[in-house]
Amino acid sequence: MRQLPVLTALGLMLALGLAGPARAADPVPADPASADPVVRGAYVFAAGGCAACHTAPGADAKPLAGGRALKTPFGTFYTPNITPDPDTGIGKWSEDDFRRAMRQGVSPQGDDYYPAFPYTSFTGITDRDLDDLWAYLRSVQPVHQANQPHELGWPFSWRSLLPGWRLLNFTEGPPLVAVGQSSEWYRGAYLVRVLGHCGECHTPRDLLGGLNWYSPFSGNPQAPDGDGKIPNITPDPKHGIGEWSDKDIAYYLETGGMPDGDFAGGAMVEVIKNDTSKLTDGDRQAIATYLKSLTPLPGR
Ligand code: HEC
Ligand code: HEC
Repeated sequence: MRQLPVLTALGLMLALGLAGPARAADPVPADPASADPVVRGAYVFAAGGCAACHTAPGADAKPLAGGRALKTPFGTFYTPNITPDPDTGIGKWSEDDFRRAMRQGVSPQGDDYYPAFPYTSFTGITDRDLDDLWAYLRSVQPVHQANQPHELGWPFSWRSLLPGWRLLNFTEGPPLVAVGQSSEWYRGAYLVRVLGHCGECHTPRDLLGGLNWYSPFSGNPQAPDGDGKIPNITPDPKHGIGEWSDKDIAYYLETGGMPDGDFAGGAMVEVIKNDTSKLTDGDRQAIATYLKSLTPLPGR
């Protein structure tokens, strides 16, 4: 057992905003076992890390009203408003519109979305999680805030090129996973591959920004946000997290504390804050089980 002083853990929780005012913006409890679809949807929303992209940084930002800048090698994307505001958000959408956006990456007008929206992972979402997520999104405060256009370099500014990209890089539906595994493993695979979209950062990308699934989770020498490198999370003892126990992984996902006493930094801070710290202990353990089962790979 690692002895992390309680005070340090508390200090980190405050730094991550896990305690304190963040609650006000997040009034719905998130519980996957609830009878209320909105409460279950809040949990899917957390596991999907939607707030990390759709809520702008800063204390006065309106939850889910978008406007966060995502810097990529292709230019800067500004996330859209996904509150139920009828004019500037998705208030006029039907559940089928939402289903199509999440599973196929296509807008109600029939335009392809840029993969800066990780529909490439969300495509594997279960029917029940999709229904619950929709119930939750309908329940949040509508915010009137117009979307900001993306600032993309040529030729990426051409949405019309996306069908070609999709042909090469997108397969609709749940990812192919092994057969004969435990239910905990399947849960972990779903949380990592689909909802948590961990591979969107931890899997290397090719020149066109497609995920290179020949070396899954082996890290990304160039983070999508241009902000440093992203570590290998396969169980390779030298290059990855092979020396971490299941408990170490679960503890890191809960608090950001690492086995060597250091703390998570960079983009992972928000993943922990918005997503993995809100999961149940069982789900964090399931993620650890799945990560430990990956093929150890060198790289990053
Ligand atoms: C890594 C950042 C990121 C994450 C995480 C993310 N999104 Fe998005 N989302 C985007 C971007 C960028 C777009 C705009 C894509 C475009 O313009 O082609 C978008 C678009 C959307 C749209 C379409 C909105 C419109 O007006 O057309 C919906 C709905 C949506 N996201 C819902 C979600 C939900 C629900 C989650 C969590 C399960 C989520 N997103 C997680 C970045 C993200
Ligand atoms: C937005 C990009 C992003 C996403 C999404 C993401 N990560 Fe990370 N992750 C990072 C970065 C960046 C680091 C390095 C953090 C640091 O510098 O301390 C990291 C570090 C880690 C580490 C520690 C590895 C080490 O050697 O220090 C683990 C474990 C991890 N992530 C697991 C996950 C899991 C599980 C998910 C999905 C639930 C996930 N990550 C999703 C960006 C991301």
